Amino acid sequence: MVKLFGAKKNIAVFISGNGSNLKNLIEHSFKKNSKFKITLVVSNKAKAKGLQYAKKYRIKKKIVNYQNIKKAEHKILVEIKKNNIDLICLAGYMKILSKNFIENFEGKIINIHPSLLPKYKGLNTHKRVLDKHEKYSGCTIHYVNSNLDSGKIILQKRIKIYNGDTVNKLARRILKQEHILYPKALKKVLTNL
Ligand code: GRF
Repeated sequence: MVKLFGAKKNIAVFISGNGSNLKNLIEHSFKKNSKFKITLVVSNKAKAKGLQYAKKYRIKKKIVNYQNIKKAEHKILVEIKKNNIDLICLAGYMKILSKNFIENFEGKIINIHPSLLPKYKGLNTHKRVLDKHEKYSGCTIHYVNSNLDSGKIILQKRIKIYNGDTVNKLARRILKQEHILYPKALKKVLTNL
């Protein structure tokens, strides 16, 4: 397929849960000067709440059964190719992509993580951050490589932790920042793509 100069980039968003980042990216894609459109939503969970946004905005969705990871990733790859996807955005996707899959899409998968990477990779970040009495936390957008939450950092936002913060309070405050940071990171990434 021939791509026109200046055409919007096709993005696939991978989710497993609430999809507030997905919703936010969809809304940004409708803005006047947006350089991207969300063309595909992939979920490993048929009941992911975020799938409602794919339905609402009539975006193609693919629900993938992960009983066999090889088959699951193959199905995803087929969809990615079929839909001419330029960039994959992970947004709360709870499956780890294989080395093979990542290499197929070298430099074209990004993720959002709710901590100041390289600190607090993996799950339960907010609890671990609070247990360690950190003064700051935040969120990071990074390229995905085959080591968990370790790829090159694209953008990061730091926020202060207050006395009396709980996991929920912190998660909510960081999520707000995620919604500002992800579109900014996309702008940055897409100009280099
Ligand atoms: C976010 O906190 C993101 O950083 C993490 O998973 C959460 C997803 O939230 N990777 P949502 O599904 O986009 O609301």
